[in-house]
Amino acid sequence: MKGVILVGGEGTRLRPLTSRLPKPMVPIVNRPFLERMIGWMKGFGITDIVLAMGYLPDRIRERLGDGAELGVTLTYSVEDSPLGTAGAVKLAVGHLDDTCFVFNGDILTDLDLGAMLAAHREATAKVSIALTPVHDPTQFGVVEFDAERRITKFTEKPRREEVRSNLINAGTYIIEPEVLDRVPAGQYWMFERSLFPDLLAAGERLLAYPSDCYWIDIGTPDKYRQVHRDLLAGRVHAHLGRPRGEDLWVGDGCDIDESASFLGPVVLGDRVQIGPGAVIAGPTVIGNGSSVGANANVTDSILWENVRIGDGAIVSECIVANDSRVDCTAFNAVIGANVVVESGNRLDHGLRIWPDRVIQRDTLSFG
Ligand code: GDD
Ligand code: MG
Repeated sequence: MKGVILVGGEGTRLRPLTSRLPKPMVPIVNRPFLERMIGWMKGFGITDIVLAMGYLPDRIRERLGDGAELGVTLTYSVEDSPLGTAGAVKLAVGHLDDTCFVFNGDILTDLDLGAMLAAHREATAKVSIALTPVHDPTQFGVVEFDAERRITKFTEKPRREEVRSNLINAGTYIIEPEVLDRVPAGQYWMFERSLFPDLLAAGERLLAYPSDCYWIDIGTPDKYRQVHRDLLAGRVHAHLGRPRGEDLWVGDGCDIDESASFLGPVVLGDRVQIGPGAVIAGPTVIGNGSSVGANANVTDSILWENVRIGDGAIVSECIVANDSRVDCTAFNAVIGANVVVESGNRLDHGLRIWPDRVIQRDTLSFG
């Protein structure tokens, strides 16, 4: 079965993590998000996968290639300028000859796609839309439906007073081929604001598929941290690596000093070095080739690849991108790639540090 993943967004709210990396490639517990997503799709027999891309397409293509390593067939469709969600699918697949799945490329979920497809067929719907409950629907597309789960209304990014339901479009659709015929080729066109409301107006059957499966959009640093907490706490099933004892997963070729200690769920990638007296408290993920110096303390943090935490540094609730070095106290900071923060600094208050910056000794003290 065919599936199209929409990966055209720039991921602005996740900057500086997405300054150089498209959002779908940010690591989720040491594995690019998109690889995890493709694994989930493959579990339901969706192996003919098209990526509808715009921003930094080469970074995705270089890593995933033709999909053979993931056991799927990947093809790529690149827009010169954004075509919107429906326009992007139209460009990516042209004309469909069978039912097709469409996915927003920034959602981690364990939705049962097989059950959704069965419901879609049973209802002989033109489109089925997965729904999920959220606390604040104003950031999403609210979907209203009747007792037969027939969708009656879409309100994209409603104002607070317009909110009549906390069930929102969860970003997974099943579409029948003919609906794409309504999308003008080469024009900016959105499912949420144009195609779905048009289909409703034309009296077509659109099926609401609400569920209480795990669902999170990974688009902000807070959500990104939350995904890691959830995966490490086992709230959603994911392969974390090779377990060593309880609450610790250790990759290949790691060098862990015997005086280092681990508390709570901690995942180490390959070739990670942990120095004497270091304390790593979970939920924490440390990426391939990274190191934590002597007596350093890392708590509730996500370190990407080749990150160095200096001797005695204290890093708590931080996200640190590839090739960066932190030798100071950092609390709740998001640090881009290839940054150096020397000792004698204090990073605080959700500070975001852009890639390639060097913060010299004793220059920053917040909090
Ligand atoms: N190829 C391509 N081209 N992809 C696009 C384009 C485009 O022009 N515009 C958006 N996308 C991709 C994004 O990369 C993302 O994966 C997905 O389409 C949705 O776009 P977002 O920009 O993330 O939209 P949103 O989060 O504000 O709202 C959407 O998702 C919500 C669920 O998270 C809507 O579908 C809402 O209705 C929904 O509730
Ligand atoms: Mg989104």
